[in-house]
Amino acid sequence: MIESRKDDHIKIASEQNVEEGNNLFNEIYLVHIALPEIDFNDVNTTINMFGKKLSFPFIIGAMTGGTETAEKINTILAKCAEEFSIGMYVGSQRVAIVKPETAKSFRVVAENAPTALKIANLGAPQVSRLNERVLSDWVSQAIDMINADAIAIHLNPAQEVFQPEGEPWFKGVTDKLRFIKRVANRPLIVKEVGNGISMEVASALVSKVDPEAIDVAGTGGTSFIRIESIRARAINEADVFSGWGIPTVLSICEVRSVYDGFIIASGGVRSGLDGAKAIAVGANAFSMSRPLLLSALKGYDETQRFIDRLLREFRIAMFLTGSKNISELSRASIVLGPSIISWLNQRGITCRRVNVK
Ligand SMILES: Cc1cc2nc3c(=O)[nH]c(=O)nc-3n(C[C@H](O)[C@H](O)[C@H](O)COP(=O)(O)O)c2cc1C
Repeated sequence: MIESRKDDHIKIASEQNVEEGNNLFNEIYLVHIALPEIDFNDVNTTINMFGKKLSFPFIIGAMTGGTETAEKINTILAKCAEEFSIGMYVGSQRVAIVKPETAKSFRVVAENAPTALKIANLGAPQVSRLNERVLSDWVSQAIDMINADAIAIHLNPAQEVFQPEGEPWFKGVTDKLRFIKRVANRPLIVKEVGNGISMEVASALVSKVDPEAIDVAGTGGTSFIRIESIRARAINEADVFSGWGIPTVLSICEVRSVYDGFIIASGGVRSGLDGAKAIAVGANAFSMSRPLLLSALKGYDETQRFIDRLLREFRIAMFLTGSKNISELSRASIVLGPSIISWLNQRGITCRRVNVK
């Protein structure tokens, strides 16, 4: 049952150690500026994304919907998205389309975050099997359900092969993405779920789909290989593939090397400082999932405190790099560690922000 899978994901992700791999944020140094020539309170953390102003470039990650627990989580996250003027993804909405009685668990997001930037969500393997008429209907249902400003389609081949009832169907997905971009009438975001996006995939997306944003969702945070293997009781396979994927920092550089659009950094982002580093190597915004699941399970106040802390960490990183605004942060001086430099050299990438040679 799809609903029980959603509750399994919440339970396993919150109770077990499901984070693995190295996101490589520890190999980015932001150079400290002892003479920032700005006052802390003058640091401008705001950005515009898809026509909405965000108080800082942060989007609550795509997680859930479809069950009572999911509804509570979505309600808390949506209230915080509204209060802080930040973005929010919802989890895959397939469950609510095939079982309309569960749609309320998503609708609470529109009710509690009427003005925040909201992002609908469907999975690539599922849309790959729909004909154009049905697909067009799914896309409008997903958007209308939460009054979404944009729609995300997640690419999750690793999750699907490790999922006991997985649907590893990726043939024809590119054509379906192009179709969605045409009918959605909203910006299209293509995202991973924790294994990263390479420059080859980004190039294919640029030439064949032209999405408005790419969310790298790289390795080094929540691992769906681990979560699904725990569900399948197939831990050995998960151990073999532990850490599989493209570390988040490298995925940002890979995508940025071929893509001029909006990049969202996610996968193991764990502080406002990580978020600032992501922007300094080429992302436009950052997103976090599991930490917000953990705080939402503790309640609204805890989630509010968590996001408040994140914003403060982000603002401090901007101040200490002398960045008055996000554009200056994206040009802040950085030094990269040896694993990043080696990867970029071997991949022939001059990370747009960085002269690797
Ligand atoms: C409980 C849970 C459920 C998730 N469900 C979805 C989903 O339905 N759709 C999706 O695109 N990503 C989903 N994700 C993946 C996240 O959006 C994100 O890409 C991934 O967790 C990596 O970010 P993190 O390290 O900050 O958790 C889920 C993550 C978690 C923890």
